[in-house]
Amino acid sequence: MKLAFAGKGGVGKTTLTAWVADYLAAQGEDVWLVDADTALSLGQASGLSREALPDPLIRRDDLIRERIGSGMLHLNPDVSDLPESIAVDLPLGRPPRQDITPGKKRLLVMGSVSGAGGGCACEANALLKAMLANLIIERNEWVLVDLEAGVEHLGRGTVASADGLVVVSEPSRRGLDTAADVAKLGRELGLANQALVLNRAEPTDIPRINGLPERTLFMPELPELKARQLSDPAVVGLADHTQPDEIANKLLNALGRQV
Ligand SMILES: Nc1ncnc2c1ncn2[C@@H]1O[C@H](COP(=O)(O)OP(=O)(O)OP(=O)(O)O)[C@@H](O)[C@H]1O
Ligand SMILES: [Mg+2]
Repeated sequence: MKLAFAGKGGVGKTTLTAWVADYLAAQGEDVWLVDADTALSLGQASGLSREALPDPLIRRDDLIRERIGSGMLHLNPDVSDLPESIAVDLPLGRPPRQDITPGKKRLLVMGSVSGAGGGCACEANALLKAMLANLIIERNEWVLVDLEAGVEHLGRGTVASADGLVVVSEPSRRGLDTAADVAKLGRELGLANQALVLNRAEPTDIPRINGLPERTLFMPELPELKARQLSDPAVVGLADHTQPDEIANKLLNALGRQV
């Protein structure tokens, strides 16, 4: 199953992506984590040290030249070997269960795919898009994509081939307005299976805003995470991962997949 995580800045997209991945791996599932944000924080959120972070694909001039070329661009390159060759393994954020061999968590750091028509990082964009398309369209594995804001940067065909959109918001009008915009665009591009996660929120009535995903889940603020975030960028490896696991499980159920 391929899921994209989107929403306004700072609402918890990366946190939720890291939590769902860790939950899946703990259940024995292999999962690709794709960091498609400019801030490149998914690796550290998943417990990787800063030094161990790979160069984002968008800056891998060697690969861009090799696969896309320059001048006459090769826009449909073969990238089927690329995910395996550039991925970095992420540690499981908890002691493994005795009865389940944990799945692999593999991180792909892409950088941000810029929207159509902007400037010319054409070669880099072409490579990013080709790799995303390979993961999302051609493979049958768990792929979680942490996006910058909306889904449009994924490209039409790629969005339509994802299986679910997780729209993350904080309980604020601005967050919800962005969430509704992202959800509408997702639907227009053919991604109708959606869930809204209201992060740092207690279950409460939310205003009726046209376009929000119908299914809403609530994730409370975690004091343990809040207390340590000044000193540690990781959001996994908490002493108590009950609530992150619960939200991951409910979210996957809401999107139609029981794990
Ligand atoms: N439920 C929560 N309880 C406590 N802290 C949280 C919770 N969710 C997220 N945080 C903290 O909030 C901060 C922002 O979260 P995160 O980086 O996941 O947001 P984001 O939407 O990915 O941001 P950006 O738009 O910058 O990529 C992080 O420091 C994270 O540890
Ligand atoms: Mg983020």
